Amino acid sequence: MLKVYEATCTAPINIAVIKYWGKRDTKLNLPTNSSLSVTLSQDDLHTKTTCRAAPELKADKLWLNGKEEIIAQNKRLTNVINEMRAQRKKLEENDNSLPKIADYKLHICSANNFPTAAGLASSAAGFACLTFSLATLYQLKLDNVELSTIARTGSGSACRSLQGGYVAWEMGEKEDGSDSHAIQVASREHWPDMQAIILVVNDAKKKTSSTLGMQHTVATSPLIQHRIKHVVPKAMEDMKTAIQNKDFDSFAEITMRDSNSFHAVCADTFPPIYYMNDISRAVVNAVHDYNAAKAAMGSAQKYTVAYTFDAGPNAVLYVQKKDADNVLGVISRIFPAAEDKNIYSGFNFNDQEIDE
Ligand code: PMV
Repeated sequence: MLKVYEATCTAPINIAVIKYWGKRDTKLNLPTNSSLSVTLSQDDLHTKTTCRAAPELKADKLWLNGKEEIIAQNKRLTNVINEMRAQRKKLEENDNSLPKIADYKLHICSANNFPTAAGLASSAAGFACLTFSLATLYQLKLDNVELSTIARTGSGSACRSLQGGYVAWEMGEKEDGSDSHAIQVASREHWPDMQAIILVVNDAKKKTSSTLGMQHTVATSPLIQHRIKHVVPKAMEDMKTAIQNKDFDSFAEITMRDSNSFHAVCADTFPPIYYMNDISRAVVNAVHDYNAAKAAMGSAQKYTVAYTFDAGPNAVLYVQKKDADNVLGVISRIFPAAEDKNIYSGFNFNDQEIDE
């Protein structure tokens, strides 16, 4: 009987509070700035991927949400698959007792339980999951930092989904990218009462992909140089301090300012890129109004809730657990959802390793 080798994993999304925007090397996905994110629980928004290797398979094939993607036409997929196969080959060459599965073709099925390519970090969860499930299938002994370096070549932000809690992607300096990977800044347990509320303003696929958007911004925006040199380095340090001190006011202000800075460099791109829409901007105003009202009512906090927007119109709100129900109630009243599915709420952050 022919043997089939198979592994299934899930990986969570991460939502950046200091955004990655700009590549200094497009082949290796090396960024022009460091970034920082929070990994959500994989019980909530996640990708699930099954990889199978078997001698009877005729070609490498991949299905995303049930639709076949042509692997050969997708450099990001071939980067990850080729690297993982090369790592397995090395293992087999050094250990004759291992089955020679690196030569078998692969069938990969991947599905997201949330809208794909709508600015909700689907590529982060997707490439983290692909990398981890191939590492499991091939029984590679790579640690999370090594895995994050490989996931990064699929999608930059994916390197941050290999770790739980609060995660920094240090941009690194080396040309080969070996020092450009994610490290955990703090575990979820360190500051567990942080929650995310995701408002799905529009779940359509975005018009300008992150890759194209970044290239246009780096090529045409003078403002991005200011962001890279003067804004992000200080924000990274201040954000790490805010997380260490569990200082929500600082966390919230840095998060909102960074989202605004990122969308400002998109608007400074020529021609400009607009990911946010009128509803997104109404959410920004509602959050500022809500924070001001709470402060006027004598709240000890300057900010109760913070917003951030990725490359899409959908909002992610960060709140502390004690305020989550109130914020959710107010937001649902201002932005009544056609159906409840438009709001994903109440996520605890995840500190687990990715599930096998
Ligand atoms: O990893 P990519 O290529 O999908 O880029 C992600 C870019 C943002 O989501 C906008 C910011 C980030 O740091 O996640």
